[in-house]
Amino acid sequence: MNPLKHVAIIMDGNGRWGIKYKNSRNAGHKAGLNTVEKIIKETIRNKISYLTLFAFSTENWKRPKKEINYLFNLLENFLSNRISDLHKQNIKLKILGSKKFSPKLNKLLINSEKKTSKNTKLQINLALNYGSKSELIDAFKKIKKSKSIINEKNLSKNLQTKNIPDPDILIRTGNTKRLSNFLLWQLAYSEIFFERKLWPAFNENDYNKIIKDYKNIKRNFGKI
Ligand code: IPE
Ligand code: IPE
Ligand code: MG
Repeated sequence: MNPLKHVAIIMDGNGRWGIKYKNSRNAGHKAGLNTVEKIIKETIRNKISYLTLFAFSTENWKRPKKEINYLFNLLENFLSNRISDLHKQNIKLKILGSKKFSPKLNKLLINSEKKTSKNTKLQINLALNYGSKSELIDAFKKIKKSKSIINEKNLSKNLQTKNIPDPDILIRTGNTKRLSNFLLWQLAYSEIFFERKLWPAFNENDYNKIIKDYKNIKRNFGKI
């Protein structure tokens, strides 16, 4: 049985779900938040230490302003309402990606990270305005500036994911098989599950099935 420390998820398919059932992409984003709550609970129940959620990519700025504003409002409300409870549950929140949002949201994110920084039960890494290519470029720049040598160890510790073990599992919902600029370095040996269901329709059973399948995979890491 493979140990399981870290699950990363590309939460895709909100817009299509919203259009299909509510005739609105934004309704899909709202429904997607319920899935986030369910999956957090189930991650804790499975005693997994790290959950990384891709919520907004550096490329998602190309979307209509109305949708972007809706998404960030949703996040603002979620954090304002839920961070105390997450803190009580001993959950640590870390943001991956650069915090270039409204001053109000930036502050909320920083405060949420600070408030929960000592928590130990589950670390949730929320990828917001995150892009793996720019993360890698920044890491190379830092190494160059410090005049260190370029090797795997130095690169890993200059990424935003420093001190976080690489994901064991990557799940992408929404019936699309691509990485969309997510954790390109960190996913080098992750077990990848592409899930047909759209994110708002994804549930605990789907998640547990993936976890069960993962545990039985023979992970070789190059060996035989
Ligand atoms: C949610 O899914 C991911 C975000 C970028 C917020 P999408 O909004 O990409 O949904 P689809 O893929 O258009 O259905
Ligand atoms: C990937 O989904 C990013 C997030 C889930 C946040 P997208 O819907 O933006 O990906 P593409 O554009 O279809 O590749
Ligand atoms: Mg999408």
